[in-house]
Amino acid sequence: MNCSNNVGRFLTLEGIEGAGKSTQAGYLKEALEAQGIPVVLTREPGGTALGERIRQLLLDPSLPPMAADTELLLLFAARAEHLAQVIRPALARGHWVICDRFTDATYAYQGGGRGLDTSRIAQLETLTQGDLRPDYTLLLDLPVSLGLARAKQRAHLDRLESETHAFFERVRRAYLARARAEPARIQIIDGRGTKSQVREAVLALVRTRMMSGEKNAL
Ligand code: TMP
Repeated sequence: MNCSNNVGRFLTLEGIEGAGKSTQAGYLKEALEAQGIPVVLTREPGGTALGERIRQLLLDPSLPPMAADTELLLLFAARAEHLAQVIRPALARGHWVICDRFTDATYAYQGGGRGLDTSRIAQLETLTQGDLRPDYTLLLDLPVSLGLARAKQRAHLDRLESETHAFFERVRRAYLARARAEPARIQIIDGRGTKSQVREAVLALVRTRMMSGEKNAL
């Protein structure tokens, strides 16, 4: 685990639209808190007042199209603020941080989806995060058609949700490639199941991969 400088643990949830990350992040927070573990649940883009403003800009479907680099830099600007105001202080306090999306989403959406050069994303990652990386990442994977059907049921589509099916296929492929490249950190979970099936899978993995040796048990 990459938590040498932190007392807390840093866990992220990833996946395409409709994968169920936000629901599962809430379940996981409840389960950890029931064991007396202090948890900060947060999200990207967002998590701070400034970050939520940036999120509005990023997702606003009424804005004219923005350059891919603008989108990339706005995401990292929000992330820098999030790290400074929320994530690093929480880890230093010994809290677990559960983040609904983080930099793997940038590799998947801006790298895979938009086709940006991943070495440039990696440079911004180092600039913004130093050597901080999530300790553990759960990738909720499901077919694009199912994810988009779920997302459409929820509400009006935002700027990114309005992208094409082919865009989300590239995003999904990029996520899966990252999971293959970093199997110790990124675990794939089948996101097609019911909420409670996915919840059990998430808790089982966190129990075995992040909590072995701890007195708390999920
Ligand atoms: P959400 O739907 O999980 O709230 O995320 C908002 C959107 O932002 C989603 O379409 C994915 C997108 N996104 C990126 O494109 N790059 C990123 O780095 C992050 C964190 C999110």
